Amino acid sequence: MSHLMALSQVSLGATVSVGSDASLRRSVFKAQNVNFSDKSWAPVLPLDLKTKSGRLRNKSVVCMSVQQASAPKVAVSPLELDNATEPPLNIYKPKEPYTATIVSVERIVGPKAPGETCHIVIDHGGNVPYWEGQSYGVIPPGENPKKPGAPNNVRLYSIASTRYGDYFDGKTTSLCVRRAVYYDPETGKEDPSKNGVCSNYLCNSKPGDKIKITGPAGKIMLLPEDNPNATHIMIATGTGVAPYRGYLRRMFMEAVPTFKFGGLAWLFLGVANTDSLLYDEEFSKYLKDYPDNFRYDIALSREHKNKRGGKMYVQDKIEEYSDEIFKLLDGGAHIYFCGLKGMMPGIQETLKRVAEERGESWEEKLSQLKKNKQWHVEVY
Ligand code: FAD
Ligand code: A2P
Repeated sequence: MSHLMALSQVSLGATVSVGSDASLRRSVFKAQNVNFSDKSWAPVLPLDLKTKSGRLRNKSVVCMSVQQASAPKVAVSPLELDNATEPPLNIYKPKEPYTATIVSVERIVGPKAPGETCHIVIDHGGNVPYWEGQSYGVIPPGENPKKPGAPNNVRLYSIASTRYGDYFDGKTTSLCVRRAVYYDPETGKEDPSKNGVCSNYLCNSKPGDKIKITGPAGKIMLLPEDNPNATHIMIATGTGVAPYRGYLRRMFMEAVPTFKFGGLAWLFLGVANTDSLLYDEEFSKYLKDYPDNFRYDIALSREHKNKRGGKMYVQDKIEEYSDEIFKLLDGGAHIYFCGLKGMMPGIQETLKRVAEERGESWEEKLSQLKKNKQWHVEVY
């Protein structure tokens, strides 16, 4: 019955109702999948469904000028989550964390990805609300190796879902976690005893496991929503894509009555290879459904070469579009950087070179961008 309801709502172009009951969720997702003939609205991306066709891989995707009929959006609740004027902050602290429950853990990279990344859904029962762009802290079980007797230190993870969560009911949070694997520098072999404590714990966790969380934390990556027609340029390496998944779901997937996005979201993603692409299925769907509002450019460092013959990094993609990016920044666009700390020097160098070629001072431009709150950085 719920299948049929969901299907008829979708075909009429209305929003899709999703209940909070688990069995209803499953059946509604199934119906959506059948109707949309892809799985991009599913809460997680099963490995076998990742796009591996090479589409989007060798050239950038530029938005087309064809106006698309608006795609059906998913109804979310409780809408009160959109009422607050200030973001929630540090509701739970390391001394008194919230005990949440793992809902699912899915490996979301293909077999040839150099490393493992998991999409983890956590049930917080609506008790640890957050806004898109914030992070949760996770306290892994066990003793702090540096302080015997004390619990492990908290680790931060960017939230990869919207405030409504992957089940659209405001009760879950999703994280995108890369397992920190330690390779012995002499043998080059993995030494699991030195692998990262928290990322291993998270990627090994099972549905039903309890997990201690803190937060939500952070304001720097909040999506400014005062102007729904603004431009947002989002730059990520690896798991740095997490906050952007949240932004983009809010912009293009969810029916949020108080936020109707009509601007431009431009995502630049740097990952190792095709198998390392994260959430590609849902981003590709936005490109199809909202070609005037979404752009998506990918640098595959181990498959593409830059114009100097080196690895294609995300900053090389930025350089390719630097004229447009500078114009958008001059027009007030927000620019976000999230992911590897190591990307920032290369990105700054690229932007400085471009500015100089344009006869501008990068230092002045950067300080203006910071002053105008257009510059958002979260790297780790
Ligand atoms: P740790 O146990 O802290 O170890 C760190 C590193 O040291 C590992 O690489 C490990 O292999 C190595 N190591 C451990 N023991 C030894 C040893 N004896 N000798 C040599 N090396 C050793 N990460 C994500 O995956 N996704 C996110 O979305 C994300 N968001 C973040 C947001 C913010 C704001 C910040 C600050 C960080 C974020 N991180 C994210 C990083 C995350 O917080 C952790 O730092 C990361 O998961 C590693 O933690 P860990 O406990 O697994 O590793
Ligand atoms: P590489 O590892 O080939 O040198 P992933 O999580 O899939 O590994 O993605 C991280 C991406 O960031 C990879 O493509 C990685 O390239 C790339 N990367 C590594 N160092 C830098 C850097 N200094 N600047 C920009 N990108 C980087």
